[in-house]
Amino acid sequence: MQEFVKSRSQLFELSEDVGRNVSDNPTMGEIIDRRFSRREVIKGALAVTAINGTIGGLALESASKAQAATPAFGFKELVAGVDDKHHVAEGYKAEILIRWGDPMFADSPAFDIDKQTAEAQNRQFGYNNDFLGYFPIEGSNEHGLLGVNHEYTTENLMFPGIDEPQDGKEAKFAKLTAELAAVEMAAHGGSVIEIRKENGAWGVVKDSKFARRITLATPMDISGPAAGHALMKTNADPTGAKVLGMVNNCAGGHTPWNTWITAEENIHGYFWGELKDDNPQAKGFKRYGVPGNWYNWGAYEKRFDILAEPNETNRFGWIVEIDPYDPASTPKKRTAMGRFKHEGADMLVNKDGRVVAYMGDDERFDYLYRFVSEGAYDAANPASGRDLLDKGTLSVAQFAEDGTVKWLPLVHGQGPLTAENGFADQATVLIHARLAADALGATKMDRPEDVGPNPKTGKVYVMLTNNDKRKPEDVNPANPRGVNKFGHIVEMMPPEGDHAADMFKWEILVKCGDPSIAEVGATFSSATTKEGWFGMPDNCAFDAEGRLWIATDGMSSKSTGKTDGVFAVETEGEMRGTSKRFFSVPVGAEMCGPCFTPDGKTLFVAVQHPGEEDMEGKPGKFANPPTRWPDFAEGMPPRPSLVVITKDDGGAIGS
Ligand code: FEO
Ligand code: CA
Ligand code: CA
Ligand code: CA
Repeated sequence: MQEFVKSRSQLFELSEDVGRNVSDNPTMGEIIDRRFSRREVIKGALAVTAINGTIGGLALESASKAQAATPAFGFKELVAGVDDKHHVAEGYKAEILIRWGDPMFADSPAFDIDKQTAEAQNRQFGYNNDFLGYFPIEGSNEHGLLGVNHEYTTENLMFPGIDEPQDGKEAKFAKLTAELAAVEMAAHGGSVIEIRKENGAWGVVKDSKFARRITLATPMDISGPAAGHALMKTNADPTGAKVLGMVNNCAGGHTPWNTWITAEENIHGYFWGELKDDNPQAKGFKRYGVPGNWYNWGAYEKRFDILAEPNETNRFGWIVEIDPYDPASTPKKRTAMGRFKHEGADMLVNKDGRVVAYMGDDERFDYLYRFVSEGAYDAANPASGRDLLDKGTLSVAQFAEDGTVKWLPLVHGQGPLTAENGFADQATVLIHARLAADALGATKMDRPEDVGPNPKTGKVYVMLTNNDKRKPEDVNPANPRGVNKFGHIVEMMPPEGDHAADMFKWEILVKCGDPSIAEVGATFSSATTKEGWFGMPDNCAFDAEGRLWIATDGMSSKSTGKTDGVFAVETEGEMRGTSKRFFSVPVGAEMCGPCFTPDGKTLFVAVQHPGEEDMEGKPGKFANPPTRWPDFAEGMPPRPSLVVITKDDGGAIGS
């Protein structure tokens, strides 16, 4: 019998092993770790002044105000462990809201694990829920819509008989027929569901007029500077402005005008074929890892074959904006925000009215980006947001050891971004944003995932999940550990709250990992318990009080004896750097999509790929999965699901 090869999650990791960023952007051989150590941070404001003479009195004042305004977390910490169920802190309820395969429309067929068809999946909740965003109906905290991403599919847990992922292209895809590929395509994309709290319990509204499935077949507009560009045209779309579907939508965001932002991440895996050096697009393909050959869709749909339709790949890897309130609306790929492996895009309205989005490119040694709209948003006129994301400036971050970070604009004609250097126009700069950022000398990061601006304090938190390929000689001040197995969180401070400024200050909030093992070099506060520390920060959210909550991805059960979960992290005052475990996923799952209702009384989370690996790290099999969460029914595999969390006394979560 052949050995198990890799679960999809492991494949995601592996895809990054190739070290795709071969630019020679400088790394600082010598780190000045002292400046960013936890010890100095807790000495408080005086120490900060001494370390960084340039920080203004105003900033210190607002820091102490934030401290006073942010109440500490009050819940009793959850004990960490590994089993086949989910767990939440005492005094809270965590209930299943919707599962993969659940019907979404009046005509949806009931889920039948043995008779899956694309037709049925098109009318049912998709697979591997990741991001979710809450969109209130008439301002309600108890009635709204959820926009949910379906990032990818896990065939060995979805389909009976496909339970042994094999090495080698032929063996791997031998059983994945055209029919199953079509089910996979229908299980990707997104869902809009209507939810309501009645008699104290949240539920999905049946036969909602808002319900929507978005799949690889959903027509979308390509808008912004790259729309209509020669590199975006295909045989099916000579206009270069229309595309079918979105893929590998990981995290996302929520615009100030209440639309749903969904981010295309590992798009390379869906393209198929062999890349030769004489391919005219070889440079761009290599930098983006195309073709990844993770799926065999190219065998059935020509557009996923890079030789048949080389430009189709340029039409994926974007930020997509969707109006969740209008199921007939056409999603738009906003090309002004650049093409890379987008984790998400968290947004705010800057004090001058412009909209600022922060975005991570989740790959080892890739970059942190910011988009600033050209126009301003007028809250009194939500329609002013309609195409605001089509014009603006995309920049990439360059961190310096003096505690500043500079935003370098990706603008055609400026600096090295010229035709002589391969950037014919602004569309080319955006389509090949990674190559443009290489040319500008951006800082190579440890896999930037969510980047969350705190709406209360204006500080920005960057989740850097890990980077086991960074060597000690490759470190830089903002990524000070090689090997970085557990990740860290960078905190950025825009000057006087101006998120459009050219330069910010930054600090490290916490270096993650087990603080009891000295070699790990973790810097959680001493108040953090053995249950409370975490690694691999991925998604983040702020509650109504402006407190930071983090979801993790990759605390493998075998190496840590824990599962992924939701953690509450103190960012202000004496308790800064203290983390507490609040929620745990079942074995093999990743924690995604934490999202609060505006009143902070409900927390929605997404449990992704439950059972994908067992406690030994081996891929789960359909026939004998490590968990059958959440149904626990014989013959039913684990099902990715949304979970809704409320406090028993009806109060705010975490207080
Ligand atoms: Fe899909 Fe960056 O996690
Ligand atoms: Ca994910
Ligand atoms: Ca993620
Ligand atoms: Ca991740």
